[in-house]
Amino acid sequence: MRIFKEIKEAQGYIKKEKEKGRSVGFVPTMGYLHEGHLSLIREARKRNDLVVVSIFVNPAQFGPKEDYKRYPRDLKRDERLARASGADIIFYPSVRGIYPDGYQTYVEVTDITERLCGKSRPGHFKGVATIVTKLFNIVQPDIAYFGQKDAQQAIVIKRMAGDLNMDLKIRVMPIVREPDGLAMSSRNRYLSDRERSDAPVLYDSLNLARRLIKSGCRDTNRIKNDMKRLIKSKKGARIDYISISDLRNLRELKRIKKEALIALAVRIGKRRLIDNMIVGGRI
Ligand code: PAF
Repeated sequence: MRIFKEIKEAQGYIKKEKEKGRSVGFVPTMGYLHEGHLSLIREARKRNDLVVVSIFVNPAQFGPKEDYKRYPRDLKRDERLARASGADIIFYPSVRGIYPDGYQTYVEVTDITERLCGKSRPGHFKGVATIVTKLFNIVQPDIAYFGQKDAQQAIVIKRMAGDLNMDLKIRVMPIVREPDGLAMSSRNRYLSDRERSDAPVLYDSLNLARRLIKSGCRDTNRIKNDMKRLIKSKKGARIDYISISDLRNLRELKRIKKEALIALAVRIGKRRLIDNMIVGGRI
């Protein structure tokens, strides 16, 4: 496995591989890899000749009060895990390399980025769309892999790739969970024992929604209220949002007809956790 820190070197190497007719699968990450990331790398390994994993903690997608500085970083650990899962290349650029002095260009997806997480994280998706566009330009992947855990991010990136005629496929892979249902996330390591024991309530509330829908309930207010009640039974939990929306445009639904995204963000102590479930469709 090769590690490239310089953009030009990574770009040059991948370009030559593509000229030999090799397909490129790409897994963009912010590092501190967990099973969720590794499932994407393994999937990329199955379907592509060359597997590129980027590790870049992107300052442009963190708000001023968010955890950019504290975000976990451990290249040695990531290297070992990425290699064991089948990566050929780790692209590990510097902040200076990605955003040199005088940098002024951003990519903005409208409307769908203002909903759900976009409400409490203004500017977040602009940072994501910008870095993902830059990484796509550098790596030139045939297929890029994202996790459904960040469902809104996946929807935004698909929209952006379509709207900007980017010549690649976006694959969205299932959420990987801990045995008690907590969705895997690099940030889970910050949960205290108490927070960790409360955290599966997000998944429990999604399962409650699933049961209600299965029993015929289509009224999204009823489903949201029952989810709310369950989450509020945990003392340390504060709901940021519970949303039941159209899977394509993320507008809130009154009733579930065919497809829907049920998504939520909840603060457990100091940590903000997200989770989701898709009904009747896929991203
Ligand atoms: O999902 C993430 O880890 C990040 O948002 C991404 C897609 C790597 C962009 O920085």
